[in-house]
Amino acid sequence: MAYDFIQTRVAGRVGWITLDRPEALNALNAAMVSEIVRALAGFGADPDIGCVVLTGSDRAFAAGADIKEAAGRSYPETFLENFLASWDAIAHLRKPLVAAVAGYALGGGCEIMMMCDVIIAAETARFALPEVKIGVMPGAGGTQRLARAIGKAKTMDLCLTGRMMDAAEAERLGLVSRVVPASELLAEAQAVAEGIATKSRISTMAIKEAVNRAFETSLSEGLLFERRTFHALFATQDQKEGMAAFVEKRAPQFRDM
Ligand code: HXC
Repeated sequence: MAYDFIQTRVAGRVGWITLDRPEALNALNAAMVSEIVRALAGFGADPDIGCVVLTGSDRAFAAGADIKEAAGRSYPETFLENFLASWDAIAHLRKPLVAAVAGYALGGGCEIMMMCDVIIAAETARFALPEVKIGVMPGAGGTQRLARAIGKAKTMDLCLTGRMMDAAEAERLGLVSRVVPASELLAEAQAVAEGIATKSRISTMAIKEAVNRAFETSLSEGLLFERRTFHALFATQDQKEGMAAFVEKRAPQFRDM
């Protein structure tokens, strides 16, 4: 499929989406976001894909929502169109989504990153929610997902000052999963994603659902959801195969059934 602002490719069982608007540091205009959503839907429906990676360039994962596109908007327009709501589709992908982040991940770029499940950052990555500097506030989940990821004190610090945070601080706070040298970022993301993609998709998708449930519900309800989902996996052939392979000291061959 042809896209104007992203590139897609498949490597093994991994679908890659590369943001490709270098002249604007991958600023997310409406067309680019709808292309990301379309590409994710395609990979989501493809039984040969077990994990998706979202990445940008060396210089920028994405420097935010497109400020030039948004500058002239009015309140009635943003309200009636539910501006930015279409971005939620990224978080609703059921397959695991890995972010490979180098350079700037700012504003909407940071918010899209936080919709991903595993976040691998290059040492060059820089994060901020700088909306306060342009007279607005995060609008694609920034205040909510950041607070859940790193707590209130740091979220207030970042959102109220708009300051830039480096990769070491982001890793220390638990915002990102791993930090690697920039030269190793894409290989590390592929290795992590391929490792996920070769597991049973029933396991990986159930795990994603259960972890995300932790942010939506009470502990007892979350534990019940986890336990019942865990029980259900004993109805799969992949459970029989996975445990038999362990006992027989061989690699499992999962068939997503
Ligand atoms: C539109 C952007 C952009 C953005 C960069 N560009 N970020 N265009 N929207 N978010 C464009 C610049 O205008 C410029 O184009 C080109 O990309 C290169 O950027 P420079 O500023 O020349 O590069 P540099 O000096 O290296 O500075 C990099 C930067 C800076 C620190 C990342 O570009 C910057 O501060 N960008 C804005 C970051 C930001 O505030 N993001 C959050 C947006 S708000 P031209 O054609 O001029 O050369 C958000 C949610 C709110 O995400 C929703 C409403 C928008």
